[in-house]
Amino acid sequence: MSENKPDSSLTIQPVIALSRADMDAVNNVILERLSSEVALINQLGHYIIDSGGKRLRPMLAVLAARAYGYEGSHHQLLAAIVEFIHTATLLHDDVVDESDLRRGQETANAMFGNAASVLVGDFLYSRAFEMMVDVNSMRVMEIMANATNVIAEGEVMQLMNVHDAETTEKRYLEVIYCKTAKLFEAATRLGAVLCNRPAQEEEAIARYGMHLGTAFQLIDDVLDYSSSSEDMGKNVGDDLAEGKPTLPLIYAMEHGDEAQSAIIRKAIEQGGYEMIDQVQAIIQQTGALDYTRRAAQKEANMAIKQLAHLPESEYKQALETLAQFSVQRSA
Ligand code: IPE
Ligand code: IPE
Ligand code: MG
Ligand code: MG
Repeated sequence: MSENKPDSSLTIQPVIALSRADMDAVNNVILERLSSEVALINQLGHYIIDSGGKRLRPMLAVLAARAYGYEGSHHQLLAAIVEFIHTATLLHDDVVDESDLRRGQETANAMFGNAASVLVGDFLYSRAFEMMVDVNSMRVMEIMANATNVIAEGEVMQLMNVHDAETTEKRYLEVIYCKTAKLFEAATRLGAVLCNRPAQEEEAIARYGMHLGTAFQLIDDVLDYSSSSEDMGKNVGDDLAEGKPTLPLIYAMEHGDEAQSAIIRKAIEQGGYEMIDQVQAIIQQTGALDYTRRAAQKEANMAIKQLAHLPESEYKQALETLAQFSVQRSA
């Protein structure tokens, strides 16, 4: 077994227990603020929110705030805001990616149609900004407005890379920073901002979130070739079908022989599921998944290093565990 395979000894149960009271409160805020006079918004909103999800971003937001000793309740509101923004991106992402499975059930677009998904996604984005006004902090507004804007840029950049076999590792890393890591960065940064920590500490915890988020997306892209739909709750092989040049493909293309590279190139350019078996084989032969897992582990290690400035506490420990989890997760 490779040293980079998941370590089954990692458990996040203590982290879940530690954040339970906060996360219960976050859940209440989410349910309260989801409501609208418009029936379809409630219906679709509950459809996606009640299907769960790992709630990793809001958990990071509350743990980061606690790690700095925060005692108020704005961290719960901000965590709910972060989850609304995340949920809005998922609604839009599944339309763009034409996905039909999310969190083990039909996607909202498959169930209610693309138009409803896009519009309820807009509702969630704008509701998140309404909620932010309650925090009454221009700095918080700035962080979240910037994060939301960068996520949109990331999704558009990715759209431009689709079916483009020339996409480099560097361009791919830019995309995943924007579309995924940026929200993790904002979520953890908020913890320091709520506690008025000095700029260096704020930047360190923001980098923690950024590295963790990058690791998280790298592993998501590994799982797309190695997991099962049952475990992931999403369709396996979707990235290839969409012609998405993720790191496993980029690496396999660069490190395969001429024939192997040509096959990967063609698969990216044409998309679809037809070449999946061939592509899987080349990914295996070139060690592309191990390479991507190693890249994720490096990111997680860098994330953990950023925590050095925090006083020892169970919250700091929990942040460390979540960085490891982002790499070792299997779903
Ligand atoms: C899915 O995020 C989108 C990615 C960045 C890969 P999560 O895997 O955190 O989604 P849920 O909220 O747990 O369903
Ligand atoms: C998710 O990207 C990023 C955002 C939600 C902005 P993906 O398209 O890779 O995520 P999944 O696989 O659909 O969850
Ligand atoms: Mg997607
Ligand atoms: Mg994916």
